[in-house]
Amino acid sequence: MAAGRAFLGAPCSSLAAGARRLAFASPLPRTLTPALSCGVRGRCIASASSSPDAASSPEPYVLTTPLYYVNAPPHMGSAYTTIAADAIARFQASLHPRLQRLQFLTRLQEKNVIFITGTDEHGEKIAASAEASGRNPKEHCDAISSSYKMLWADLDIEYDKFIRTTDRKHEAVVNEFYSRVLDSGDIYRADYEGLYCVSCEEYKDEKELLENNCCPVHLKPCVERKEDNYFFALSKYQHKLEELLTRNPDFVRPSYRLNEVQGWIKSGLRDFSISRASVEWGIPVPNDTKQTIYVWFDALLGYISALLDDGEQASLQQAVDHGWPASLHLIGKDILRFHAVYWPAMLMSAGLSVPDTVFGHGFLTKDGMKMGKSLGNTLEPKDLVERFGADAVRYFFLREVEFGNDGDYSEERFINIVNAHLANTIGNLLNRTLGLLKKNCKSKLAFDSIAAADGSLFRDNIENLVDNAKHQYENLLLSSACETVLEIGNLGNLYVDEQAHGPVSSKGDLVLILETMRIIAIALSPITPSLSLRIYTQLGFTEDQFRVLRWEDTKWGGLKAGQVMSEPKPVFARIETETEEDAQASSKAAKGGKKKARSKGLVEA
Ligand code: MSP
Repeated sequence: MAAGRAFLGAPCSSLAAGARRLAFASPLPRTLTPALSCGVRGRCIASASSSPDAASSPEPYVLTTPLYYVNAPPHMGSAYTTIAADAIARFQASLHPRLQRLQFLTRLQEKNVIFITGTDEHGEKIAASAEASGRNPKEHCDAISSSYKMLWADLDIEYDKFIRTTDRKHEAVVNEFYSRVLDSGDIYRADYEGLYCVSCEEYKDEKELLENNCCPVHLKPCVERKEDNYFFALSKYQHKLEELLTRNPDFVRPSYRLNEVQGWIKSGLRDFSISRASVEWGIPVPNDTKQTIYVWFDALLGYISALLDDGEQASLQQAVDHGWPASLHLIGKDILRFHAVYWPAMLMSAGLSVPDTVFGHGFLTKDGMKMGKSLGNTLEPKDLVERFGADAVRYFFLREVEFGNDGDYSEERFINIVNAHLANTIGNLLNRTLGLLKKNCKSKLAFDSIAAADGSLFRDNIENLVDNAKHQYENLLLSSACETVLEIGNLGNLYVDEQAHGPVSSKGDLVLILETMRIIAIALSPITPSLSLRIYTQLGFTEDQFRVLRWEDTKWGGLKAGQVMSEPKPVFARIETETEEDAQASSKAAKGGKKKARSKGLVEA
C-alpha cells in the first residue's frame, strides 16, 4: 500500500476487554444521549446538567484561543489570535459583564464571558524541543508556558482561564473522555503506516505534500512512520458532520472556510490514530500504558478541562456544567480540520454538545510566507510592545489584517497607521478640544451633552456609526469595527474644522466633541484598552467608572453640565523615527546598531 494510506486492521480483541473495564458502572448521565441529538447548542446542557442551579444559570459566552505549543516562546503569529480573542472577550463582556466585574451586580441575570487560553505541552515535538534546550520536559514546559503568560500581560490580555495540558485536572478529564468514546465503541486498534509531519503533529496525505514529501506549511520533509495504534472511528461520523454543517452553516466561519470543510467531508473521512507507541511524553492510554494519547486528542480537551476551577473535583461532567459548549473557537486556518472535523466528531462520540462556531483566521506573513517558529521568520511581539506600546500593536494588527484573511507586516505601514489614526485623528482631537475648554470654560462643561446636541444631525450620524460598530464586533468584523470608530473621529475632526471660521468652538460645540470622544473611548476599548482608559480619565471620570462601562454606555448623553475635565495631556504619543542627531548619538552608544523607530513614551493616565 502506498505511503500515506492507513492499514485499517480489524479491532483487536484485547480492546474489547479494555472497553468493558472502562465502561461506566452506572447508567450514563442524560448528557450521554445519542450523539447527534447533542449537536445543537444548549440542548444537552439544559436537559442534563447535574448542577442544581444550572437551569436558572445564565449561559456563558465561552471563547477560546488555540492552546499554543511550547516548543518555543510566542511570536507575533501566536499573539495575533490572542489579541483578537481578547478584543472579542472585552466586547462581549461589555454586553454581558464578566465574572470578576460582577461581584456587586445581579450575576444570575446576566451572561458572563469565559475567555480561555493556554498551552499544549505534550507530544513528540515538545519532547524534542525540551531535549534540544537541555531541560527535562516539565522544566521546559514551565519555562515556555510562563513566557506566554508574560507576553499576555504585556499585551493587556485579560484571560479568565489558562489551561496547561500538563495540569492534573486536564489529565483526569482526558481519561474520562477517552473512556466515554471507548464506551461508544468508537476506538479500535490497528496498524498505521504513513508520512508524519512532526511540526504539525499530523499524518499527511501524500497528495498534499510538496517535492521530497515536504510539508507545505513547514517546508520540512515528513518522516515515514509505522505503528500499532488506537484509532478513532471518524468515518462513522461522516453523515452526522454533514448534517451539522447543513443545519448550522455558522459552525465554520468565515463562509469560505465552510466550503473547504464541506469538501473534506465530502471526499470521505478516514479514521485517525489517537495514540502513539513511540512517544513517552504524553498522557498514558488508560487501558494500555505502553502508548500515550495523541497530542491533538489530548489538547482539544483542554477547552473543556479549562472550565474547571482550581482545586475542585476534576470530572468531565463538572467541567461541562461550567459552561460547555463553547460559543467560539478562534483558530488559525492551518488547524481547521482538527477543530471542524475531528473535534465535533469526538464530542458527538462522547455525547457532548459541539461548539457554536469555529472561526479560522488567516496568517500573518513575512514575504508571503506564514510567520512561524519552525520557519524562523517570526516577528517579536515583546520587542514591538516595548517600542510602541500594547495599544499600537493591538490596533495595528486588528485594523490592518482583515479578520479571516492573511496580512503582511511592514514597519513603515505600522508607524503610518498608528500615527495617523491613534495619535492624530483621536489623540489630537481630544487634546485640542480639552485645550479650548480649559481656555474658554476653565475645563468645566457648560451644558449636558444631550442639550448641546439638540436638533443636531451630528448626533444622529455618530449614533448610526456606533450601531454599525456594534454589528461589526458581533460579527467578528474587527477591522471594520476599527474603521467605523475612526470614522467617528473623522466626523469629530471635520466638525471642529468646519466651525473654525465661526465662533471658534462655542461652549456647546466643545461638549459635542467631548461627548464624541467619550463614545470613541468606549467603542474602541476592546481594541485599545489602555488608550481608552486614558481618554476616559481625561474626561474627568475615574478608573473604577471606566471598569464597569458597558456597550450601552455608548449611548449619547454621558457627559453632564458641571463635569470637570482633567488637565489636557497627549493620550497617545506619536511614533518618531530617529533624527540624524539621535541616530548618530545612538550609533555611538551602540556601534553598528540599527536605526529604529520608537514611541517617545506614552503619557500616564
Ligand atoms: N497546539 C496546537 C493547537 C492546539 S488547540 C487545541 C497548535 N499550536 S501552535 O502554537 O502551532 O499554533 C497556535 C495557533 O497560532 C494556530 O491557530 C496557528 O494558526 C496560529 N499561528 C501560528 N503562526 C501564525 C501566523 N504566522 N499567523 C497567524 N496565526 C498563526 O497548532
